[in-house]
Amino acid sequence: MHRFALSTRLTVCFIAIMALCFAVVGALLFRAVADRFYVQDEVNLVLSTRHLRRLVSELATPRDLVDHRDRLTALILGDAAVSMRIVDNQGRVLVEHPAVGGQPAMATHVVPGDQRVLRSDVTSWDDGAGNPVRGVSALARLQDKTPVTISVARTMTDRAVVLARYRHDITLILLSGGVLAVVLSYLLVRRAMRPLRTMADNARAITAQRLGSRMSMRDTPAELHDLALSLNAMLERLEHGFGRVWQFTVDLAHDLRTPIGNLRGANEVALARPRTAAEYQALLGSNIEECDRVSRTIESVLFLARAESPQFALQRTTFDAVQELTRIADYFEGLSSEAGVSIRVDGHASLHADRELFRRAVGNLLSNALRYTDAGKSIDMTAAAVDDGVTVSVANEGPGIDAAHLDQLFDRFYRVDRSRSDSASSTGLGLSIVKSIMELHGGQVTVSSQLQGITCFTLWFPRSTGPEHESAARP
Ligand SMILES: Nc1ncnc2c1ncn2[C@@H]1O[C@H](COP(=O)(O)OP(=O)(O)OP(=O)(O)O)[C@@H](O)[C@H]1O
Ligand SMILES: [Mg+2]
Repeated sequence: MHRFALSTRLTVCFIAIMALCFAVVGALLFRAVADRFYVQDEVNLVLSTRHLRRLVSELATPRDLVDHRDRLTALILGDAAVSMRIVDNQGRVLVEHPAVGGQPAMATHVVPGDQRVLRSDVTSWDDGAGNPVRGVSALARLQDKTPVTISVARTMTDRAVVLARYRHDITLILLSGGVLAVVLSYLLVRRAMRPLRTMADNARAITAQRLGSRMSMRDTPAELHDLALSLNAMLERLEHGFGRVWQFTVDLAHDLRTPIGNLRGANEVALARPRTAAEYQALLGSNIEECDRVSRTIESVLFLARAESPQFALQRTTFDAVQELTRIADYFEGLSSEAGVSIRVDGHASLHADRELFRRAVGNLLSNALRYTDAGKSIDMTAAAVDDGVTVSVANEGPGIDAAHLDQLFDRFYRVDRSRSDSASSTGLGLSIVKSIMELHGGQVTVSSQLQGITCFTLWFPRSTGPEHESAARP
């Protein structure tokens, strides 16, 4: 299907509507004028016939008719298109005007003598030469009871000429009006479309490098106001999204540069002079640690990228949250006893969630807690069923987190204490992965912390609608 410009479509619609209106108005106007003519002529014909009938009825004999010819014809003298004739019942012409030859044939319908002549008695016919004629015939009786037929007719040729001229004039006026209306409606539509073109120009100017531009709200008509607002809101989101991607790229590059720089530096130093086997062993050990950090960063970044892809689907199952927490605590047993920290699990709740992602989220919180809990202290993991779902909290006693950091804590690569966290074990992605996992579940992660006190991370899983198993797309 062809796609026409909106202004072309609107103009065509306007033209069609106007053509229809003009045609109807023109036809009605013409009809009204024609009717006026015909009504006037009919009335004249009827009045003349009635008058003639009255005059005839006052005369005594057919002879009188001929004698009073002038009186009888005077009635129609003024109008050359009108003719009259009085004939007796043998068809002999008694009075006629104009003279023989100019008289058109008479109406076939004759009004009886006892009936009043009405407009409806006027009939139309053709004079044989193609000229339209209208007329009326009526019976009348002389004083001596002689019946005569009075006929009055009017050649309509002059009317037809006037009406044809009139029709021509109306057509011309309407056509000129139509052309004017077409031009004006095109200009009007073009003008009405101007804000759309301005918006298109605005949109053309927006590129990835100029995402700060916005649709101008000035001169935007009410109909486009909402559209402009929505586009601006979309640009806002895009700008924010692009900003995040850009920031993420910068942070990622920075975070990969550090371990690679360390690797290269340590290797260069080691190669500067001959080393013992033990020194090379130590170097290789630290190289492996740096490599681990790089691969952990890459693995985390990949996880976050996949978690944000629309194809990512959860595999929810229903499981006992406390049992799962105990299993995770067992897994961290080695690390916790090394740090002299005990892990306590408490509560009661059944959870409908992706078990692997649950393990990963709780594991990240627990490994943070282990890193920040002083020896001899304990970490509490609690699961509880609440009104609108299930909460799982991981609380530890330690240095705590300053309130100023809490807002950014879940941002990618954000670490509170960079000097300490830049160690091989820290990527700064752990909590953003937790946040991603909770968003995938439609839940959220919150934190509360007191300096030199308890730091508690809480995962909230909303009440699940059912134990459906989502598709097995797994990164
Ligand atoms: N329990 C906690 N007590 C004090 N600070 C914490 C605690 N958990 C997290 N943090 C702070 O939040 C920061 C971000 O944590 P996150 O888990 O995102 O990164 P990370 O632990 O540094 O790196 P990764 O988890 O990748 O090894 C940490 O660097 C730390 O400063
Ligand atoms: Mg962490």
